[in-house]
Amino acid sequence: MESTATMRFDVLTLFPEMFSGYLGQSVLKRAIQAGLVEVHLHNIRDWAEGKHRQVDDRPYGGGPGMVLMVRPVVEAVEAVQAMGTPGRVVLLTPQGRRLDQRLVEELGRQPRLLLLCGRYEGFDERIREILDPLEVSIGDFVLNGGEVAAMVVIDTVIRLVPSVLGDEQSSQQDSFSGEERRLEYPQYTRPPEYRGLAVPEVLLSGNHPAVARWREEQSRKRTQERRADLLAEPPRDINDESRQRRPASN
Ligand code: 6GU
Repeated sequence: MESTATMRFDVLTLFPEMFSGYLGQSVLKRAIQAGLVEVHLHNIRDWAEGKHRQVDDRPYGGGPGMVLMVRPVVEAVEAVQAMGTPGRVVLLTPQGRRLDQRLVEELGRQPRLLLLCGRYEGFDERIREILDPLEVSIGDFVLNGGEVAAMVVIDTVIRLVPSVLGDEQSSQQDSFSGEERRLEYPQYTRPPEYRGLAVPEVLLSGNHPAVARWREEQSRKRTQERRADLLAEPPRDINDESRQRRPASN
């Protein structure tokens, strides 16, 4: 993100209280207080009707678990959209496009994101048909709901908002940022020796070109050892959507 405009997130969830610890955390609290980021929580149940405020029901055709109902979800999203300039709807689901730094950067270009968190066996398919959301997964494993994934999206995206990190925009040096997809080199701080383990001599030498060479070499070696897949991947085309994936089930 280049601009300094506020990035707004609206989270739609059945468990808004799950976000309070995360939102109270220092980096985010400072960003919110500085007006760089807004996070609004909405309980989908507020748009449910009836004595029981029902938001889920048994699947047609039978089978285990419960399905999120189309009406409360769609009406919640429409009401939240009307609370400002409409934003992109992101549906958190293991069926979505896998989140990586490239997708984080794409999401960071949006001024407003609505993060729709599901629970249970899934969403009534008409929710997708009506809302046409961008579906996002945070990895190939199953969470109990989209809330933790929504926090991952917020956390990764706000690091890109200028001055959220406070310091010298260290997100530019992180693993996976920019063109070079590399893991970071090892870091050390005081003391120079602990339990017989010494800090590499070069880091204490004050020889900055030598330090830079050592770090470069360590970064390459570490990436080769741990994540050779990153080195094998071709350079990324920002407009290439072909890597979107959609597993057959779930
Ligand atoms: Cl976004 N939601 C759920 N329920 N499980 C997941 C996920 C999302 N991403 C990976 N696993």
